[in-house]
Amino acid sequence: MTEREFLCIAHRGASSYAPENTFAAFDKALELGARQVELDVHFSRDGHIVVIHDDTLDRTTDGSGAVSEMTLAELRSLDAGSWFGPEYSGERIRTLAEIFEQYKGRLYFHVEIKARAEGLASRAADMVRAHGMTEDVTITSFWKPWLEETRMYAPELTTGWLVPLGRDSSWDYSIIEQALELGLDQVCPRADITTPELVSKLHQKGFVVRCHGAYSEELMRRAVDCGADGTTVNFPDKLMEYLGRRQ
Ligand code: G3P
Ligand code: CA
Repeated sequence: MTEREFLCIAHRGASSYAPENTFAAFDKALELGARQVELDVHFSRDGHIVVIHDDTLDRTTDGSGAVSEMTLAELRSLDAGSWFGPEYSGERIRTLAEIFEQYKGRLYFHVEIKARAEGLASRAADMVRAHGMTEDVTITSFWKPWLEETRMYAPELTTGWLVPLGRDSSWDYSIIEQALELGLDQVCPRADITTPELVSKLHQKGFVVRCHGAYSEELMRRAVDCGADGTTVNFPDKLMEYLGRRQ
């Protein structure tokens, strides 16, 4: 498998090297040669789609409390970079629209519907359509209802389900059948429970297999060696180097 064929997806941007889900992290992904990134979305109190991983502000900003209880103006005022390093103090929480405007034509996006908020998937799809990016985005979620919402509202979009699928799961077939019924394109198992057998089974059913949770180089290599089609990774440079070595 070549570097071009395997989806090297910078997780929350190149989040090993810059504060996750910020311009700095996406810029770094580009600088390292990645062309695909993953990000997480929530609603602000006033209904804007903002790019941040946690439900709360405490870990990755100088604010505190729930993202969903702050207006966009309040969220924009926060420092989303200093927690990672003082050189990133200018980083801000961005809207999905700002991210699309900044990187359209340069990055492919895996948008994770993170908040348990009805309507978020549909509004994200509106944003994708408004930017003419239906070919440049995959919508993902751990939560089936948000994928159902996406399939109903925007069937033209590529979809991927982040699943706890693997050797210790007793509901493998149920997940696969549900994914087939929903017409999802990707099944996204954790790297640590991905096996060649699982990948083969999913390929037989027609799914793209995109791993997540490759938090170490060992797990990153596992995703590649199991025959998966891609993975998110915090250090895309190391993944590209590994893929290059295998050519
Ligand atoms: O690629 C999916 C991955 O991002 C899911 O885990 O916690 O990083 O959102 P998390
Ligand atoms: Ca995510």
